[in-house]
Amino acid sequence: MKALTYIGKGRFEVTEKAKPAMVEATDAVVRVTLSSICTSDLHIKHGSVPRAVPGVTVGHEMVGVVESVGEAVAKVKPGDRVAVNVETFCGECFFCRNGWVNNCTDPNGGWALGCRIDGGQTEYVRVPFADNGLTKIPDNVSDEQALFVGDILATGYWAAKISEIGKEDTVLIIGAGPTGLCTLQCVRLYRPKRIIVCEKDAARQKFVKNHYPDVVVISPEDCLEEMLRLSEHGGADRVIEVAGADDTFQLAWKAARPNAIVTVVALYDKPQVLPLPDMYGKNLTFKTGGVDGCDCDEILKLISEGKIDTTPLITHTFPFSQIEEAYDLFENRRENVIKIGIRNEE
Ligand SMILES: NC(=O)c1ccc[n+]([C@@H]2O[C@H](COP(=O)([O-])OP(=O)(O)OC[C@H]3O[C@@H](n4cnc5c(N)ncnc54)[C@H](O)[C@@H]3O)[C@@H](O)[C@H]2O)c1
Ligand SMILES: [Zn+2]
Ligand SMILES: [Zn+2]
Repeated sequence: MKALTYIGKGRFEVTEKAKPAMVEATDAVVRVTLSSICTSDLHIKHGSVPRAVPGVTVGHEMVGVVESVGEAVAKVKPGDRVAVNVETFCGECFFCRNGWVNNCTDPNGGWALGCRIDGGQTEYVRVPFADNGLTKIPDNVSDEQALFVGDILATGYWAAKISEIGKEDTVLIIGAGPTGLCTLQCVRLYRPKRIIVCEKDAARQKFVKNHYPDVVVISPEDCLEEMLRLSEHGGADRVIEVAGADDTFQLAWKAARPNAIVTVVALYDKPQVLPLPDMYGKNLTFKTGGVDGCDCDEILKLISEGKIDTTPLITHTFPFSQIEEAYDLFENRRENVIKIGIRNEE
C-alpha cells in the first residue's frame, strides 16, 4: 500500500509499505477512508518534533472501517465505521484512570500515531488499545462530520471543558485557525453570555462572521481596547489562547479580567514569559497542556444530534494520489484553506 512517510527533516515522500499486521491482542487494523492534514504534521516535516521517528507513516486525523480486531478488543468489530483518536492510551494506569490520558505511562502512550508509530495518511493503520483509540461513528454521522473528532475537535472540547464556562461569562478565543474554530463550536455548547473571537487574518475573520453571526470578531491590535468596551468587569471572564503566535500569550492574560481563567491550548515555538510582577493582584488561573482526548463518544453524540458541525472547516478535498499537492496548499495557506480531506479510493 502507499503511505506518506517521514524521511527526514523537510522531507515527506509517498513510499510503498506492507499492510499493517496485528501485534497485540488489544490492536485493531482500520481501513482508512478519509484523513486530514494537521499543523502538527507540518511540525514533523520541519523536523521540530524530536520524538518523530524517520520512516514512520504520518497522519493522525482519520476515520475508517475496522478491518480486523485482536481477541481482547470488545468495543468495535470488523465492519464498524470508526473515528481514530490521536492519542494512544492504556486506560488502566494512574493517569488514564484520572482521565489524563495524554500522560498515559504506556510506552506507546500519548501522541504515537503518525509520530512514533505508523499513522493514517495511507490505506490501513494499526491502532493499539483499540477499545480506547477507536470510537464507533453513529449511522447518521458522515466521515466528513467525524473527521476531526479524535484530534482538533477533541482539543476544542477539552479546552472548553477545562475553562469552566458559565452562562454569565464573556469568553474570548484568540485564534480562529482549525483548532480555534473547533474550540468555538465547543464553547458555544455552554451558552455563555458573549463569545468574542480575536483573529488577525481577514479571510478567517470573515469565515467566523459568516458561520457564527452571533460571535463578535475583533483584530489583535484592537483586542485590549475592545475587551474593555465589551465586558462588564475589565476584561474577559475566560480567555482561550489558540493562536500560538509570538505575542498572543501576553495578549491572553492582559485581555482577562481579575480572577479570570486563562486556558492556553497553543503550543509555542519559543519559551514564553510569565511576568508575575505585572500580573500581581490580578489573581489569574492558568490552565494548559496537551489534549486529554477521551470524550470522543460524547463528541460524536453531539454531532449526531446536530449540536456540532465541523464540515465547513473542510475547505478542500483531494484523493490520496494527490496528497503532495494537498500538503503544498495547506502549508502555504493558499485559497483560504482551513482543512483538507484526503479521500482513499474504495
Ligand atoms: N494543546 C493541544 O493539545 C493542542 C492540540 C491541537 C493544536 N494545538 C495548538 O493550537 C494552536 C492552533 O492550532 P491550529 O491548527 O488552529 O493552527 P493555526 O496556525 O492554523 O491557527 C492559528 C490562528 O491564529 C491566528 N493568529 C496568529 N496571530 C494572531 C494574533 N496575534 N491574534 C489573533 N490571531 C492570530 C492565525 O491567523 C491563525 O488563524 C497551535 O499552536 C497548535 O499547536 C494544541
Ligand atoms: Zn493534530
Ligand atoms: Zn494509561
